[in-house]
Amino acid sequence: MIIGFLGKGGSGKSTLATATVRYLQNKGYRVLAIDADHNMDFSFNLGADITSKFLGSDPYLIKRYVGLSDSAGFLEAKEHALKKGVGFKLNPPDEFTSQVTTEHEKNLLLMVAGPHTEIVRSGEHCSHSLAAPLKTYLPLLQLEENEAVVIDERAGTDPVATGILNSVDLAVIVVEPTINSKRVAEQIKHELKIAGVRFLTVNNKKDGMEADTKRVTKEIFAYVQ
Ligand SMILES: Nc1ncnc2c1ncn2[C@@H]1O[C@H](COP(=O)(O)OP(=O)(O)OP(=O)(O)O)[C@@H](O)[C@H]1O
Ligand SMILES: [Mg+2]
Repeated sequence: MIIGFLGKGGSGKSTLATATVRYLQNKGYRVLAIDADHNMDFSFNLGADITSKFLGSDPYLIKRYVGLSDSAGFLEAKEHALKKGVGFKLNPPDEFTSQVTTEHEKNLLLMVAGPHTEIVRSGEHCSHSLAAPLKTYLPLLQLEENEAVVIDERAGTDPVATGILNSVDLAVIVVEPTINSKRVAEQIKHELKIAGVRFLTVNNKKDGMEADTKRVTKEIFAYVQ
């Protein structure tokens, strides 16, 4: 299962993504945590240091690695996986996955998009391209039943527009009890409906940190089962 966290800035995406990783680990899952936000709160929450291994924003490296053309999109990647039998694996990690992830803990792999890269700073790529390789990586990832991916995304609707969410089984929209958070959640829902992505809205900052994280992780797990 692939779960992505979305929501307004500060609503609690990284907090709940972290709690979900811990919940899944406790359930015996091998988890790939993907930190798609350049602020890297998810990585720090999981206890990681700044790592020198970043996924980066260059979409061509991965496409060339799997033999796709530079212009290939999500659907071509999916088709490629089926036709050519190309696939990424978590256990043990294939060569590409090993290059772009850290075995952070037992049964916890961490993939970090990283802070803005030179290609973004130089103006060649927009910062929205951060984590762009995920668009190719996720459709080619072959998960076993006891494996899960948790993605902590950037705030707002942008992650939906990048197309990365096309591969998730469930987008979790985190809402805190403010008018703006609810408004942004509505915008995200609208975008997800257009993209045809399944979603679940969860309320955060309602009952206190511990109660919220417990309730939400259970809710998510029950939903994706
Ligand atoms: N249920 C909760 N109860 C109390 N505080 C919370 C709760 N969830 C999150 N917080 C706090 O709210 C702040 C924002 O949380 P978090 O970083 O998870 O949000 P975010 O949506 O990932 O933010 P960003 O958009 O900056 O990535 C943090 O200080 C966090 O500790
Ligand atoms: Mg965050």
